[in-house]
Amino acid sequence: MNEIENVYGETVEFYDLSALSQIGNKKIVLNKFADMVKDLDGIILDIGAGTGKTTIEMANMICDKEIIALEPSAYMRTAFMARLMEHNEVKERISLLPIDVGKYSFRDKISGVMCMGVLGHLKRDEQEKLLYKLDKNLNINVPILIELLEPKFLVAPVGSRISVATQGRLRYETYITDIKQVGMDQWTWRLTYKVFCGKKIVSTVDSLMSWNYQSVEKILNQLTKMHFRTAKLSETLLLAIKAR
Ligand SMILES: C[S@@+](CC[C@H](N)C(=O)[O-])C[C@H]1O[C@@H](n2cnc3c(N)ncnc32)[C@H](O)[C@@H]1O
Repeated sequence: MNEIENVYGETVEFYDLSALSQIGNKKIVLNKFADMVKDLDGIILDIGAGTGKTTIEMANMICDKEIIALEPSAYMRTAFMARLMEHNEVKERISLLPIDVGKYSFRDKISGVMCMGVLGHLKRDEQEKLLYKLDKNLNINVPILIELLEPKFLVAPVGSRISVATQGRLRYETYITDIKQVGMDQWTWRLTYKVFCGKKIVSTVDSLMSWNYQSVEKILNQLTKMHFRTAKLSETLLLAIKAR
């Protein structure tokens, strides 16, 4: 298994339920992004589309746009495809490519880019390369929506419960059971997913995750030095628009 499969392999079943990246105003932001891209020419590129939740939401917000979703994890793609089959209204407009963004050719004309929860998976030089590629290949006025990790996860005490959700008679809880800063911007976490039926544990799954953390400000700064106008939308969301 490659690194990404290690992270999401055993835990993909918990991904949507634990939805670590959920924030209240995300839907409003997605709507605004849809408004910005709807009159521009080209596809929407969704980098690291995961289980497809946001991709399908976006496809429903703009009814005549094609979306190209990139997702290197076969586990994530399996969840994505299962969800897509339930969405006849959008499935002809979504192509799910089994590649990482480093392999994407940028030959399509692009009207908008979503990069939600992905940058932290890339090494520092890969992050920079991606931002340069976007700078080089996007036309004027094309927006990029980027979501980063909530900074509170960097300082969460070991043992913190970071999500709880129920499904049927089962309760799913996620804990940070280890956290280490292993480089200047690099962190590793052990997340432990516990499934309960009443007080009884039904299963426990550990997952190791390494993350190259950059703050919203740092990414904004890099994009501003290129050809983008930028705006911080929240602690985790930022928008960049190709300006020249
Ligand atoms: C935290 S999930 C976010 C999924 C989705 N965008 C969301 O907001 O729910 C990060 C996703 O990025 C994918 N990913 C990791 N490295 C990638 C790369 N180099 N290129 C494209 N996707 C990548 C992972 O497989 C995973 O599905």
